[in-house]
Amino acid sequence: MSFVCRSAALLLKSSRAAPVLVSAARLCSSGAHYEYILVEKRGEKKNVGFIQLNRPKALNALCDGLIKELGQALDGFEADGEVGAIVITGSDRAFAAGADIKEMQNRTFQENYSQNFLATWNRVSTVKKPVIAAVNGFALGGGCELAMMCDIIYAGEKAQFAQPEILLGTIPGAGGTQRLTRAVGKSLAMEMVLTGDKINAQEAKQSGLVSRVYPVDQLVSEAVKCGEKIAANSKLVSAMAKEAVNAAFELTLAEGSRLEKSLFYATFATDDRKEGMTAFVEKRKASFQDK
Ligand code: HXC
Repeated sequence: MSFVCRSAALLLKSSRAAPVLVSAARLCSSGAHYEYILVEKRGEKKNVGFIQLNRPKALNALCDGLIKELGQALDGFEADGEVGAIVITGSDRAFAAGADIKEMQNRTFQENYSQNFLATWNRVSTVKKPVIAAVNGFALGGGCELAMMCDIIYAGEKAQFAQPEILLGTIPGAGGTQRLTRAVGKSLAMEMVLTGDKINAQEAKQSGLVSRVYPVDQLVSEAVKCGEKIAANSKLVSAMAKEAVNAAFELTLAEGSRLEKSLFYATFATDDRKEGMTAFVEKRKASFQDK
């Protein structure tokens, strides 16, 4: 329970009686202090790391501080032996409306280059544990890129995805041109990147960008359920499976198949593989120890 925010969020009533998510205690039991995200563990066994982007006034625009905190929270969950999967979500209105344009507005090429701007953005894509994006509302620019760094994307019915950087006189910079193209194919990716047009949840599902679409109010619990399912398996073997699937984006078929075979062989060095097959033969549920 090392990483649970004790009371990360309270659902309070605003003066207009609309529920407002207010961060109440940003001090987690780990000592981490968060201004832009809410962090807790969810699921019956508290084995799903849960991160909610929480900058509602800016539609969760991804400012430097938010990205830094996201990295810290991911580091914490990565190191937490109880956590077997991670869910990242935003609000009903916005997963994230992109990089913070106001923060970026006056940046220069020289600063970007010398400070290695965006270098820390891809932390999500280097996490070994499976990460699920639960996208309600806008996932635009860097928000769409952040979702695409996750392993699985679930969308709420009102979700909208876009790479609108072209309308700002720039282009995607956190993998959008690469991951979107691999996810939806060249024609739709080109159309989205060159026009800035949004696609809705159904179009995202049809094109393969997201795997499932749920009603807005069910999205997060469905994502956590998926996380619980994953967390019930061996964390060690899940990391191997994730590595093998991700290799499909980097390697040739022959190289990828070789890596897959090596990882498959390697599972035979684990107690969990023995337990999984023994449990099947003994007609009982496997109990994995992540060893
Ligand atoms: C900073 C943002 C923001 C952003 C919204 N806001 N998006 N602030 N950066 N990316 C702020 C607005 O300024 C406003 O604050 C508040 O959020 C509400 O936004 P509105 O525009 O008033 O809301 P609405 O009319 O409903 O329009 C929603 C929207 C629009 C369609 C999402 O805000 C929008 O187009 N946002 C920009 C989307 C975008 O271009 N994203 C790509 C960014 S570039 P104030 O205080 O002004 O009222 C990018 C590059 C990635 O991501 C490269 C690698 C990281």
